[in-house]
Amino acid sequence: VITKIKARQILDSRGIPTVEVDLHTNKGVFRASVPSGNSSGMYEAVELRDGDKGVYLGNGVSKAVKNINDKISEALIGMDPTLQSQIDQAMIDLDKTEKKGELGVNAILAVSIAACKAGAAEKEVPLYKHIADMSGKTTPTLPVPAFTVISGGKHAGSTLAIQEIMILPIGASKFEEALRMGTETYHHLKAVITEKTGAHNCNVGEDGGYAPNISSFKEALDLVKEAIGRSGYNEKIKIALDVSATNFCIGKRYDLDFQSQKAGQNFKTAEDMIELYKELCSEYPIVSIEDPFDKEDWEHIKHVSSLGICQVVGDDLLMSNAKRIERAITESACNALLLKVNQVGTVTEVIEVVKQAKEAHWGVVTSHRCGETVDSFIADLSVGLASGVIKAGAPCRGERLEKYNQLLRIEEELGDQAVYAGDDWRQ
Ligand code: PGA
Ligand code: ZN
Repeated sequence: VITKIKARQILDSRGIPTVEVDLHTNKGVFRASVPSGNSSGMYEAVELRDGDKGVYLGNGVSKAVKNINDKISEALIGMDPTLQSQIDQAMIDLDKTEKKGELGVNAILAVSIAACKAGAAEKEVPLYKHIADMSGKTTPTLPVPAFTVISGGKHAGSTLAIQEIMILPIGASKFEEALRMGTETYHHLKAVITEKTGAHNCNVGEDGGYAPNISSFKEALDLVKEAIGRSGYNEKIKIALDVSATNFCIGKRYDLDFQSQKAGQNFKTAEDMIELYKELCSEYPIVSIEDPFDKEDWEHIKHVSSLGICQVVGDDLLMSNAKRIERAITESACNALLLKVNQVGTVTEVIEVVKQAKEAHWGVVTSHRCGETVDSFIADLSVGLASGVIKAGAPCRGERLEKYNQLLRIEEELGDQAVYAGDDWRQ
């Protein structure tokens, strides 16, 4: 049973406060911490921040920490950690609001994840196995890693509007090989960027991708294509984009120069953007595009989906919200979910939204946030849910690598039983 819960404020990878919790049971102490992102919308669960501008510029989480140490702790002590849905429901009942803003999703999720880890230990099974059991006896599957190799947009502050260019080693035979292929390509990319644009363009963005100060999508994609070629993985590595277009949509038009000195001078219509995506998909091995339009543009995203050229992922569009996912399924707006656990709030609800997406035959991308901690929970989660893809940043920087390294350990532990999603990444 749960004997003690103790939370504290720690810092995330951006130096911004976040919540960490230690949950004690008779089996030991189980620690979890929660990530946080740039994008936030009115449909996602609410992070509780102190708002005292004099302390951490208002970003402190002492109220969320206190909510765990007082209210949540009192409600959960004595409960069996294997009863995940009852634990999660107890916190939802205590919070009483639709978006978890009373206790804070940062408080609720930290405890939910720690309880999940404790539940696995109680059952004496690996964490991914416990998650697979809870999600309907899924076959644990190692996901295809989507490595961010170029960062732009709000993740880098460079002149490149697109937020992320990712590489997916779909043709690897196992995760370990995928990690090697992605990492080799990442290193080749550094050399390509240095040769073509100068070493100063190899600084990295928030999620570890290089952040060259170039503005053309094609120029950026050419660098990546060249790096894939030099690594010798032309057929085996595919490309994915996270456009995160909401960030540069101004009154239904798109400003690709929004972070450069040319901002406000040149706008693209949604139709221009569709043409651009068509062109990019015909010239580069792009298999997935995330948020190609503003998060409230439900019309144009359908056009991209109907082109049938690639997977269309809803991140800002969906905010991992069950009602938005339902609408997107009904309207065929996109065909994959970007799963951000802290937009949902509890492990039980995460399992539910993934079921919802899979029943619609969507792809599922388990995702990190730009503000991360060294908690590797999403690695086990992606295996247990058999989500097919994990997006956890570049193969660089500790908080990103902790997820990929955990996947190596899981693959090693599964041995002969290990399954790598590979070509079946969308199933
Ligand atoms: P965020 O970005 O964590 O800054 O919201 C991640 C993404 O857009 O995929
Ligand atoms: Zn995104």
